[in-house]
Amino acid sequence: VAEPDLRGRHVVVSAGGTREPLDPVRFLGNRSSGKQGYALARTAAARGARVTLVSANAGLPDPAGVDVVRVGTAVQLREAVLKAAADADAVVMAAAVADFRPAAYASGKIKKKDGQDPDPIVLVRNPDILAEISADRARPGQVVVGFAAETDDVLANGRAKLARKGCDLLVVNEVGERKTFGSEENEAVVLGADGSETPVPHGPKEALADTVWDLVAGRLG
Ligand code: PMT
Repeated sequence: VAEPDLRGRHVVVSAGGTREPLDPVRFLGNRSSGKQGYALARTAAARGARVTLVSANAGLPDPAGVDVVRVGTAVQLREAVLKAAADADAVVMAAAVADFRPAAYASGKIKKKDGQDPDPIVLVRNPDILAEISADRARPGQVVVGFAAETDDVLANGRAKLARKGCDLLVVNEVGERKTFGSEENEAVVLGADGSETPVPHGPKEALADTVWDLVAGRLG
């Protein structure tokens, strides 16, 4: 049985991958299954926290005792996370958020035109939710945790991302078509804004989640 070291705390976790619609049929998306974020929600609840899970297209059963808010796009995810973060002690952004969305949404299915090349897809930037909540903490001492999904130069990219986003902790994990996404296991290094590095060996996503909560609980005091 887990120590109830998060009792009395409200934590917000985002999970899954955003989908940015092109038309009623198609979207731009990514390979996140939501498993890492759901593991974070389950372990936080087991440690006594009140948990709000903002879930983007995960298709997983609601974890017991967790408030689940379902969203589709990055803009919807931002709105739900900011609302829940208003009274949160910690926010963990495990969701894979699209950096860009199609500039236009076609209200009818986009048709192919005989003999013509397809129109290019024009993209516009999505809000950076992690950077925004890090810069503008809803309450003093709120702990903000990001994830970095990297395919190469994992640690160097992670350090740069930590500085750019301004969060307290950044969980750096390597991803690929068959790596981390959708799997039951993960391995990572948790970088701290204080220069700390906590390696987490290959193991269940719950184990990485518990290490994240250990580090968060330590910062909440
Ligand atoms: O869901 P699983 O299949 O279990 O896979 C888990 C995971 C690989 C999705 C997860 O462990 C992970 O790495 N999540 C973050 C994925 C991601 O979007 O990484 P990023 O390096 O592109 O973004 C960095 C951070 O900024 C993330 O915390 C992200 O939530 C946040 N972000 C990104 C873009 C944006 N517009 N707003 C954001 O807040």
